[in-house]
Amino acid sequence: MELPGAVASALPAAVAAETTEPSLQTQAQPGAASSSPMSQHLYILTGASRGLGLAMARELLQPGNQLLCLSRKTQDELQQQAEAAEVVLEQWSQDLSLAGEAAIRLESWLTALPRQPLESVTLINNAGMIPHIGPLDALPVNDLAQAIRVGIEAPMQLTAAFLRGTADWPIARKVLNISSGLGRKPLAAQAAYCAVKAGMDHFTRCVALEQVLLPHGARICALAPGVVDTDMQVQMRSADEFPDRERFAQLKAEGKLTSPEDAARRILAYLARPDFGDQPIADVRD
Ligand SMILES: NC(=O)c1ccc[n+]([C@@H]2O[C@H](COP(=O)([O-])OP(=O)(O)OC[C@H]3O[C@@H](n4cnc5c(N)ncnc54)[C@H](OP(=O)(O)O)[C@@H]3O)[C@@H](O)[C@H]2O)c1
Repeated sequence: MELPGAVASALPAAVAAETTEPSLQTQAQPGAASSSPMSQHLYILTGASRGLGLAMARELLQPGNQLLCLSRKTQDELQQQAEAAEVVLEQWSQDLSLAGEAAIRLESWLTALPRQPLESVTLINNAGMIPHIGPLDALPVNDLAQAIRVGIEAPMQLTAAFLRGTADWPIARKVLNISSGLGRKPLAAQAAYCAVKAGMDHFTRCVALEQVLLPHGARICALAPGVVDTDMQVQMRSADEFPDRERFAQLKAEGKLTSPEDAARRILAYLARPDFGDQPIADVRD
């Protein structure tokens, strides 16, 4: 549904600028190609190059959606799928350990978006990493710094940029943080990852309290996706200094991991629920 004139005129000047060009195309980076006049839902997704993020990106490449993906690597396959489905896709090669740089880039991009018939805008903070698995005092300094930057600084900076950049948009605004059961349950040899995810949960709670005070606040949720069959699980099963390694190996051997495709569908179904954000902390298995 096109924004009514009165509502559209409340948008920031750059967003409200008259244009017939789809915004992602007008700002296309090399590699971005296709466009659709039907776009209604804009998604910004981090970590779309593989694993769960790639599965979510594939699922989101449907008419009516526009997608901006951020990770270090871009995916030719996603670009091809977008072109075939006539969906607007833009991919940024962005190292999220440079979290401030990524946030400034995102906010400028949002602020400059021309008017378009959007119904919702969503940020999905999915990118994450597990540093060297082992006791905290065995973690290389740079590895620990990288895990904190990608896992907690980037989601916080991007959420802040998203909230600022869309503050006046009179449409549904959502932030979905992909958390983990390990943010809620401590494990030996995973101090950095557990702390990052616990921090993600808690900043989500705080932002939910802030946004609920606003007349048109965003809805935000930190969602645990279950145990998903990705590179991250391979890393857990192959870690030498991990007391729980066998348990994770057993989950795989017994076929108890969720496929990235199933997990992506469940997460996106959760995101689409009318009560999304009522509970700032959730688990897709609940
Ligand atoms: N797999 C599970 O069982 C599980 C369970 C609970 C929660 N999670 C959470 O689910 C999310 C996705 O995990 P996954 O299993 O799909 O992991 P994955 O297969 O290892 O993929 C991680 C994604 O994050 C991106 N990323 C990592 N470092 C980055 C950086 N410096 N800059 C930009 N992007 C970066 C990667 O892209 P590039 O390498 O191209 O940069 C990749 O797309 C994570 O937040 C993870 O903590 C996973």
